[in-house]
Amino acid sequence: MKKRILTGDRPTGKLHLGHYVGSLVNRVRLQGEYDMYIMIADVQALTDNFETPEKVRINVKELLLDYLSVGIDPERVTIFVQSLIPEIAELTVFFSNLVTVAQLQRNPTVKQEIADKGHIFKNGNVTFGFLGYPVSQSADILFCKAELVPVGEDQLPMIEQAREIAKRFNRLYGEVFPEPEAMLGDVSRLMGLDGRKMSKSFNNAIYLSDSAEEVTKKIMAAKTDDKEGITFDMKTRPEISNLIRYYQIATGKEVEEIEKEFAGETSFKVFKEALADALNKFLDPIRQKRETFAKNEGLLDKILRSGSARAKEVAEDTMAEVRKAMKIDY
Ligand code: TRP
Repeated sequence: MKKRILTGDRPTGKLHLGHYVGSLVNRVRLQGEYDMYIMIADVQALTDNFETPEKVRINVKELLLDYLSVGIDPERVTIFVQSLIPEIAELTVFFSNLVTVAQLQRNPTVKQEIADKGHIFKNGNVTFGFLGYPVSQSADILFCKAELVPVGEDQLPMIEQAREIAKRFNRLYGEVFPEPEAMLGDVSRLMGLDGRKMSKSFNNAIYLSDSAEEVTKKIMAAKTDDKEGITFDMKTRPEISNLIRYYQIATGKEVEEIEKEFAGETSFKVFKEALADALNKFLDPIRQKRETFAKNEGLLDKILRSGSARAKEVAEDTMAEVRKAMKIDY
């Protein structure tokens, strides 16, 4: 039996190159090897976008298009929408008895997010829903008894929370859940065009769905330095090194190979033109796939419906066990 993996994303924006190297490539690589579930976490997205549900709605489709365009195969992966599995909400309620408010307030990722989202949680005045999203995320992971959860480092406290809930549940009510483990990617964080972490909120990202013109414009305007040559050294030349990493992603070449290719090149402009070209060559098939799928609304709908139906069946089985264990199987 293949091991079950669950991972997911909040549908709040299009995916970029950082997502690609940080998680999408891995998912494509692992999709045959594992029984993989990918959740479009619309309920979680609403915890900090409850005032703009249309934004979440639009991005459910965009996220699905991003998945399909990079080669995630809905025949082999169960892609589903969180809100279509009400059992997850039900499980969240039962799990919420097993977690203290203090525990949630200590969660470093949630703490940081509350601080970052001052516009919505004024003066740290956080909602019950947002503070509790790690409980809901534990239900995301445990409803299908996932054993492995591929995530970035910032999500480690969520996996820890899920493990603690699983342990507590099993001890109180009997063995139902596995203790899920995080599966950390090996890539260091990809920086954006301005040297900060690549992120939608910094407006420094290259999106998988950017047009060739947009990519070229962004690369030509990217930060460089006042040194000479195209050489990789993250410490002393972070901007150029970062652009070399983009080139690496686009071409699959090693850093040394790239340095050699541009040895003696004194013009950043020449390098940037080559980079924009390489990125566009790399993104072209992804764009084409995206375009083909985008035209087929019916197919997109079918993919989400059938993935969610599959996930719901698993959820119903788990809930039957949960209800029995909790003595509420009336
Ligand atoms: N919190 C994750 C993020 O912001 C998204 C997510 C929701 C998730 N549910 C999940 C990730 C379950 C892994 C497992 O990226």
